[in-house]
Amino acid sequence: SWTPGSFTDEAIQAVKDRVGPNEHAICGLSGGVDSSVAAILCHKALGDRLTCIFVDNGLLRQGEFEQVVNTFRETFSLNLVAVDAKQRFLSALAGVSDPEQKRKIIGKVFIDVFDEEAHKVQGAAYLIQGTLYPDVIESVSFKGPSAVIKSHHNVGGLPERMKLKLIEPLRELFKDEVRACGESLGMPRDILYRQPFPGPGLAIRCLGEVTEERLAVLRAADHIVSEEIRGAGLYDKIWQSFCVLLPVRSVGVMGDYRTYEETCAIRAVHSLDGMTADWAPIPYEVLGRMSNRIINEVRGINRVVYDISSKPPATIEWE
Ligand code: XMP
Repeated sequence: SWTPGSFTDEAIQAVKDRVGPNEHAICGLSGGVDSSVAAILCHKALGDRLTCIFVDNGLLRQGEFEQVVNTFRETFSLNLVAVDAKQRFLSALAGVSDPEQKRKIIGKVFIDVFDEEAHKVQGAAYLIQGTLYPDVIESVSFKGPSAVIKSHHNVGGLPERMKLKLIEPLRELFKDEVRACGESLGMPRDILYRQPFPGPGLAIRCLGEVTEERLAVLRAADHIVSEEIRGAGLYDKIWQSFCVLLPVRSVGVMGDYRTYEETCAIRAVHSLDGMTADWAPIPYEVLGRMSNRIINEVRGINRVVYDISSKPPATIEWE
């Protein structure tokens, strides 16, 4: 019978048996549940013969890069290459507003950066991916036919390009089994129970042009929503909760001054798998605190609205 412990032991052994004593493996880490569990599992099998690559695309949330790097380096002693590619992504995105175009660009720059880093790893023969069973049975395509890259760590096409053999230790598991497996590996709850976060990151929540300034505004507002959701004990009860920055300016007053700033939408949904979703009825007092804090603490936003659309016909993300 399936137990997380026995699965984990067998999966570690299988990786040990497959990768030869002088061979190395690389793994793209995103900070999400799947790539994190795959990385830790393979680290148990390979130790220093595993190199993880984590790319800072400049589209992460507040403190996220540092948090992932610290957790994996310090808590798990992983061999982690942290790549600062913020400027490369931002330059490639300059002037682009179309959602499909944003995804394409981010996917392409990610593969280029990852490829360069992977080539620096001596003896790399394997690529570890956190593919799950649902990914195997139906290839998920996001928002249209061109969005073939599921996320920034799902490096489609890369194994062939680099002649790497693929290892997918989680490909028979569902999400809840992956979490159980992570628990049996001693991984912390704040990694295993994170809300999903899209590969293209804040770029698809920054409607209109993605600039460093607008990302900073969005990041600050998003951080407030996250703090208030956690403070109200709602984080684990909600599938996703976040902010979207809208390129819509409106007039407001701040003390004696007239303001003319952008709008932020709060989005929170209940869902089981992301395929359908209901907008989550966050208590008014929590929404009120979010709104007050965002307007008072974040320069650049003077109006906050709440998205009460379900999927379908809306989608969870706005782009
Ligand atoms: P939608 O907006 O289509 O989102 O209702 C469903 C789920 O997928 C996530 N999502 C993405 N994840 N790359 C990703 O890795 C993407 O391009 C992408 N687009 C949407 C979204 O956050 C939600 O969990």
